[in-house]
Amino acid sequence: MLDAPSNRPALPPEIARRRTFAIISHPDAGKTTLTEKFLLFGGAIQMAGQVRAKGEARRTRSDFMAMEKDRGISVSASAMSFDFRDFRFNLVDTPGHSDFSEDTYRTLTAVDAAIMVIDGAKGVESQTRKLFEVCRLRDLPILTFCNKMDRESRDVFEIVDEIQENLAIDVTPASWPIGMGRDFVGAYDMLNDRLELMDRADRNRVAESISISGLDDPKLAEHVPDHLLDQLREEVEMARELLPPLDKQAVLEGHMTPIWFGSAINSFGVKELMDGIGAYAPEPQPARAEPRQIAPEEGKVAGFVFKVQANMDPKHRDRVAFVRLASGHFERGMKLTHVRSKKAMTVSAPVLFLAADRELAEEAWAGDIIGIPNHGQLRIGDTLTEGEALKVTGIPSFAPELLQNVRAGDPMKAKHLEKALYQFAEEGAAKIFKPSIGSGYIVGVVGALQFEVLGARIESEYGLPVRFEPSQFTSARWVHGPKDKVEAFANRNKQHIAHDNDGDIVYLTRMQWDIDRIERDHPEVTLSATKEMM
Ligand code: G4P
Repeated sequence: MLDAPSNRPALPPEIARRRTFAIISHPDAGKTTLTEKFLLFGGAIQMAGQVRAKGEARRTRSDFMAMEKDRGISVSASAMSFDFRDFRFNLVDTPGHSDFSEDTYRTLTAVDAAIMVIDGAKGVESQTRKLFEVCRLRDLPILTFCNKMDRESRDVFEIVDEIQENLAIDVTPASWPIGMGRDFVGAYDMLNDRLELMDRADRNRVAESISISGLDDPKLAEHVPDHLLDQLREEVEMARELLPPLDKQAVLEGHMTPIWFGSAINSFGVKELMDGIGAYAPEPQPARAEPRQIAPEEGKVAGFVFKVQANMDPKHRDRVAFVRLASGHFERGMKLTHVRSKKAMTVSAPVLFLAADRELAEEAWAGDIIGIPNHGQLRIGDTLTEGEALKVTGIPSFAPELLQNVRAGDPMKAKHLEKALYQFAEEGAAKIFKPSIGSGYIVGVVGALQFEVLGARIESEYGLPVRFEPSQFTSARWVHGPKDKVEAFANRNKQHIAHDNDGDIVYLTRMQWDIDRIERDHPEVTLSATKEMM
């Protein structure tokens, strides 16, 4: 069990000011726009729009990334750090495509909180719900931003109800919108008794903020049209009666989400949300590990790999391992122990994603994300320490739901294909299974789109056209149990057995019925749909 947030000791100030979070949303809700405004207000970029690429590669990048490229290491904006008031924010990007993947899940193991962005007209959509469930599994605190209030949106109570009912979480309004669509003028800040007015003329201007003393303050009438003012007073009164007040502890435990209403594109409500992240999102939290948890305030550095990105620069076949620091104060050039291989590694060229300073930072603290370029030693789930044999847990691998045979377009290139497949498997982009009978490989993924992505990447990064063909199998299960029993079981069921890319034994199956039968007839082994990354 992890310590409850309330029982945690005070952290060193450098660690206590860090907030590490991800944004969860359904495509099109406004994640990119909000990210861009975060970077703008965090001083990491000078002008919105400047960093926005169109089309397929549309994502926010900071200038720092371009500089990294000049140095020969290119990194996508998988993590972005920037300062806001007294805080250091680390925003970890969740993959944008609509296929839910393990990558997304593992990204959420590297953060302490999530910002849920919903579209005010659409409410809670499918992808948001899936991601929310993952956050719930980890009891991650969630702050909500209801975006696009400058458009016709749903009734506010309806939105709040939908979140409460659909996601089974208490919702407390941190702000209350005034009008909507064309009539939208701004919001009433329920936490600080302020009136925030949107500036429609300049999208990058921060809203005008006016201190007021409650809803009876005559100043309100100077800024809010009469009909909206009556409605506001009525709604806020109702909200205060019907909805729970903000309870920081409940937020930290993941039972309550504060909601801000705004319009990312108009920069409206974004600063209030950022203040909210500072005030209500947690400090760096302890990491689950064996044989003991790792606390951020520990003097020694420990961290774990939650993502590997290969071939960022195809000329160098480099890989960057993204490491979440779980404890301590990291300095460039440090020697760390790679726990799985027990080997020491000197981290001389860490990539720190500090966007504002535009120079390679020399240090990082618990809560930060660093990128370590390497040649394949670092794999997802690996732990790095200053010597102690600790293993961070809770970074699972899921059984793929779709399997296909893969063949090289040119049969002479089979060896090349094998190499490419294993590299992508290490990156976590797919699972590779080598059946014990016959030749060739089976590729397993969680979402259908991943086959396409994989095929395109093998072709562009390795110059190898590939073909995917239907497999006779539909799912895979890891076989767990005493070593001799697992081996005996594998010998008896050779036609169903394969080894995954880590060499672990899996049982390939055509139907659920098969799995039930094995579980009944072979109680000495278990078939599992997940495994811990080792
Ligand atoms: P995503 O990353 O979650 O997929 O969403 P993204 O930020 O790309 O936003 C999706 C669309 O919604 C974009 O329009 C964006 O401009 C728009 N949008 C974001 N925030 C707001 C808002 O507060 N109000 C309104 N009205 N629109 C908003 P697009 O037409 O797809 O792209 P673009 O041509 O504007 O770049």
